[in-house]
Amino acid sequence: MVLPKHIAIIMDGNGRWAQEKGLPRIAGHQQGVKTVRKVVEQCSALGVRFLTLYAFSSENWQRPDVEVESLMTLLGHYLSTELPLMEEQQIRFRVIGDLEKLPQQIRALLMQTIDSTADHAGLTLTLALSYGSRDEILRAITAVAADLDCGKLKKGQISEQLFSGYLDTAGIPDPDLLIRTSGEMRISNFLLWQLAYTELYFCPCFWPDFDAQQLQLALDDYATRCRRFGAISS
Ligand code: FPP
Repeated sequence: MVLPKHIAIIMDGNGRWAQEKGLPRIAGHQQGVKTVRKVVEQCSALGVRFLTLYAFSSENWQRPDVEVESLMTLLGHYLSTELPLMEEQQIRFRVIGDLEKLPQQIRALLMQTIDSTADHAGLTLTLALSYGSRDEILRAITAVAADLDCGKLKKGQISEQLFSGYLDTAGIPDPDLLIRTSGEMRISNFLLWQLAYTELYFCPCFWPDFDAQQLQLALDDYATRCRRFGAISS
């Protein structure tokens, strides 16, 4: 079976999952973290090379303070407890997004986890945190402009490949498969540049209910896709 090298996921529906059960929204996020653990383990066991999870968008800062704080607490707890699994499964950890906006304590945990897993050779797990694709592209353009100004870069050198290297995802291949849970069919400012030729898969279940079987369904569907990248099939 054709396995995607890079899977990106918009983990949506935590709030609605909780609401349906008469629980506070944070209960949905707590359950969502359990799904994150299972999906990371499954991807690692299957031999997927890159997994990128949209955990907190630049727009999510607009949520009530109590929800933002709970999400940061969950993230801190996740980072403090996942290292043994990352060691055992040789998972390399990365982050994309505007990290300056994150609390200092979370930034420190992120840097520690990135450093401790830097030479792991298994799955690269990337969390998108305080991430917005338009913001990422603008930060990349600003960096390109600075390099043009100081003469490090010449105008004629700008190419798609060079520009990709200025994005937060530098060194990570574009996703082969994007999964979004909860039935919404939007990209929501996620990896706009990188998703140019990605296969899209939308499933109705809420993220806390997404399980091994759901992931397998997405992988089976991906295996039936005919990817032509704008060319014609032979
Ligand atoms: C979308 O559901 C989910 C989020 C905005 C946050 C995703 C976070 C997690 C899965 C938990 C934290 C992750 C880690 C790695 C610690 P929503 O709240 O928008 O749901 P709704 O659309 O039903 O309201």
